[in-house]
Amino acid sequence: MMTFLDVRVNKTRVRRFVPAHFTLLRFLRETEGLTGTKCGCEIGECGACTVLLDGKAVNSCLVLAPEVNGADIWTVEGLAEGFDLHPIQKAFLDNDAVHCGYCTPGLLMSSIALLNDDPDPSEEKIKTYIAGNLCRCTGYIPIINAIKEAARILKNEPRPLLK
Ligand code: FES
Ligand code: FES
Repeated sequence: MMTFLDVRVNKTRVRRFVPAHFTLLRFLRETEGLTGTKCGCEIGECGACTVLLDGKAVNSCLVLAPEVNGADIWTVEGLAEGFDLHPIQKAFLDNDAVHCGYCTPGLLMSSIALLNDDPDPSEEKIKTYIAGNLCRCTGYIPIINAIKEAARILKNEPRPLLK
């Protein structure tokens, strides 16, 4: 059975029939070709599939496609403008917070949700926000430093987190 979706993905309106059993993750990766969003566990444990759904960070593997009709969806592909990386992406690179990179798209989206909610988060709050994003490479310290630096940069050079 198919379901019809009329959504925005990274500012672009998408109208598409998709299999009704698809998750949001499968819709993004298999129908839209947006493979930046990663598939890790498919049971809501790793956070690799995190995207923004109407501004909130969600595990896209746990959301069924029919649930997102009418929604505003952002994936990692919507962050950079051409070769101009988003300040959060730059902060991750500058702080050596990207090793194998598998967790990175999900962590970037969780970081944006955090900074949307609190532009000047405490370390405890950062840890709470990224608690659902597992990284087996970095030890998390570089990631926390990157989010702190992104917050500092955005404080000094305010800009919309998502344009
Ligand atoms: S793939 Fe969705 S939480 Fe792991
Ligand atoms: S950088 Fe490899 S899992 Fe996080």
